[in-house]
Amino acid sequence: MATEEAAARWLLLLLLPQSPHRKQLIFALLLVLLLLFTSLQSLHCYPAAGGGYSEQEADRVAFLPGQPRSPQVSQFSGYITVSRQNGRALFYWFFEAQALPSQKPLLLWLNGGPGCSSIGYGAASELGPLRVSRNGDGLEFNKFAWNREANLLFLESPVGVGFSYTNTSSDLTKLNDGFVAEDAYNFLVNWLDRFPQYKDRELYISGESYAGHYVPQLVDLVYENNKDKMANRYINLKGFIVGNPLTDDQYDSKGLVEYAWSHAVVSDAIYERIKKACNFKFSNWTDDCNEAMNSIFRQYQDIDIYNIYAPKCNPAQTSKVAAVNHAFEASDQEQFSRRIRMFSGYDACYSSYAEKYFNKPDVQTAFHANGNGMLPGKWKVCSESILRSYNFSVLSVLPIYSKLIKAGLRIWLYSGDADGRVPVIGSRYCVEALGLPIKREWQPWYLNRQVAGRFVEYHGMTMVTIRGAGHLVPLNKPEEGLALMDAFLLGKQFFTHR
Ligand SMILES: *[C@@H]1O[C@H](CO)[C@@H](O)[C@H](O)[C@H]1NC(C)=O
Ligand SMILES: *[C@@H]1O[C@H](CO)[C@@H](O)[C@H](O)[C@H]1NC(C)=O
Ligand SMILES: *[C@@H]1O[C@H](CO)[C@@H](O)[C@H](O)[C@H]1NC(C)=O
Repeated sequence: MATEEAAARWLLLLLLPQSPHRKQLIFALLLVLLLLFTSLQSLHCYPAAGGGYSEQEADRVAFLPGQPRSPQVSQFSGYITVSRQNGRALFYWFFEAQALPSQKPLLLWLNGGPGCSSIGYGAASELGPLRVSRNGDGLEFNKFAWNREANLLFLESPVGVGFSYTNTSSDLTKLNDGFVAEDAYNFLVNWLDRFPQYKDRELYISGESYAGHYVPQLVDLVYENNKDKMANRYINLKGFIVGNPLTDDQYDSKGLVEYAWSHAVVSDAIYERIKKACNFKFSNWTDDCNEAMNSIFRQYQDIDIYNIYAPKCNPAQTSKVAAVNHAFEASDQEQFSRRIRMFSGYDACYSSYAEKYFNKPDVQTAFHANGNGMLPGKWKVCSESILRSYNFSVLSVLPIYSKLIKAGLRIWLYSGDADGRVPVIGSRYCVEALGLPIKREWQPWYLNRQVAGRFVEYHGMTMVTIRGAGHLVPLNKPEEGLALMDAFLLGKQFFTHR
């Protein structure tokens, strides 16, 4: 301030006609202009009050209980209202990029389920900079966090998941892909109002598992709404990337069966029986097909379907875990039994750590979550009731891929090749069904002188595998996961030689 006042005095001097120090005065005038300019700029970035910035500052998380003292993490969390009328609000956790956040893109991450939390999975177990430690008492810094290259936004979606809630309970009976996309879109628009410095930023949308449905449908909605130039809510969307994504029921089911057989999980007899009993072209499976498919899932009961070569998590059968297992089994009998196992990489061990941590009152306070105790129960990694009530009305998102490929967006699909739930075989069928011309043949990519996976580039999209990773690639293969993200976001070429 003192320098500005001094400069202002110089300016007055300059206006006096017979000044003996003309050169110095002109120099001072330039200085004043520079000062004015920079103070206007900083006003724009950090106003004292008002607008999105003060709300944004209110969402800043200074420090979470049990967080490591270093490195520093710039983070925000809070609620964004998506429907005033019904009182629906979605919860987010946002991390600025570790360096030069003003030059890095914005990356939204979504987990699937339906019903699983992007905070419990994506942020706190997979790719966030702060992951819940093994006993659930605190947090650990993740050196392969994806906010090394992007400003990273985790959204708990839809309402009823994690800390996200609705004041109109009938909303929870209406959840389907369309509903989820609308709310996520309104979230984005309103979040960008709160964080206006990201309004023009390049945006990418990412997710895994059932988010294979959420992501392309949200991208489609943004793309369509962007056409309305008058609405003044243009979003600078550049592309999307999905991992082990549910994409097309027919191909994904066929892939699941062939994967179980080709990885020695089921007998020839079961495989032959399914080939006879099931026609995956129709979504209404016959009883015979359901029964045959159940015999596959039974073979997966004692191994981890989401990572078939990993040791299975065998938690002490606490009542909570037992209840979830019970819910799985009870639902076997129900109509939608084939969908019930769609849980996004459900792992009783990780889930219990996250549930321990995020239910602590001091964590919730520091996190701006559940302020007036609006949650009907405890925070959960996955909500069984959302999964049960979800209306699976979309069978394939491949037509959306075709449309968005034509629109010129950057589109990537990656697959951990040890996942038995949404296996790489089904994803290959899906990508092949798009009928795109090949640009670069299927070939290995390398990291640390090992084959990290394979990739194939089409005109319009890229498919990448991660060797030995399961359903949750960033958890199973963190370094490979980050290399993949670098390639996607920065256009870095994969190493194709050892
Ligand atoms: C939901 O209701 C609570 C209690 O009346 C209120 O504080 C909150 O603001 C409402 N949420 C929304 C998103 O309107
Ligand atoms: C399933 O739907 C198809 C096509 O709509 C129909 O032809 C078939 O009879 C149905 N099968 C069952 C078992 O309901
Ligand atoms: C499920 O969603 C579809 C498509 O939006 C809709 O037509 C149908 O009525 C819904 N079913 C239920 C039971 O809500």
